[in-house]
Amino acid sequence: MIILKSNKEIEIMRKANKIVANTFVYLRDYIKPGVSTYKLDQLAEEIIRRNNAVPNFKGYNGYPSTLCVSINEEIVHGIPSKKRFLEEGDIVSLDLGCKYRGYNGDAAVTIPVGNVTGKVRKFIEDTKQCLIEGINNAIFGNRLGDISHAIQVYAEQRGYSVIREYVGHGIGRDLHEAPEIPNFGKDGMGPRLRKGMTIAIEPMLSMGDFKVKVLDDMWTAVTADRSLACHFEHSIAITEGKPYILSFPDNPENWYNYF
Ligand code: MF3
Ligand code: CO
Repeated sequence: MIILKSNKEIEIMRKANKIVANTFVYLRDYIKPGVSTYKLDQLAEEIIRRNNAVPNFKGYNGYPSTLCVSINEEIVHGIPSKKRFLEEGDIVSLDLGCKYRGYNGDAAVTIPVGNVTGKVRKFIEDTKQCLIEGINNAIFGNRLGDISHAIQVYAEQRGYSVIREYVGHGIGRDLHEAPEIPNFGKDGMGPRLRKGMTIAIEPMLSMGDFKVKVLDDMWTAVTADRSLACHFEHSIAITEGKPYILSFPDNPENWYNYF
């Protein structure tokens, strides 16, 4: 069942997601060679707690951390570690959520570490644009499949593949609510989008094949062919007009490259 939210609930969700986005802005200064993924996790948890929110990934199906840090061929759910350090030329996906006054926030960004090749930079920009294409279709009266289809077309036209195993989702009192939002599918299909729906759209793309393998830690998902992967996520609310992006940071100056 898709749970519609009141304007009041949506404003609480805006706050939860703003905390997440502000945390990315803060973490961005730490994305450099030599920083451990554990350090990023610690900082994220500190900021979330300082904002009277709590981590919502921690303990979710037994996930051990606040933040997911997925590097290069890792797609999602990379577990932070004291022994894993960012390296020059990596791309790193940060996926973060928090719960504030009973409501969840959830967003993800991919950031280059130091210098990456033009091709890789374009891959990041294209994945970000995939998310925007999805959001632009998240309008009142459209159907869910219109979001999925827009993402898939944009990705595949540029030679990337769309990960099938992991999908976007409704979000609210629960981190994962109905409906599931695949990043591939047919336009004109699925439930109609209605005012008050709150959803997390999260395209995950690979530069190679879409096949996935989960590592022995039982969490980290990597591309089976070890090609680079990229992930962006926004939580949004469907309105009668334009989609309301909940996971923007406070300060528009920082809408930069994950916006
Ligand atoms: N953004 C991811 C998702 O929506 C994060 C979940 S990680 C988990 O699935 F640790 F909470 F499982
Ligand atoms: Co999510």
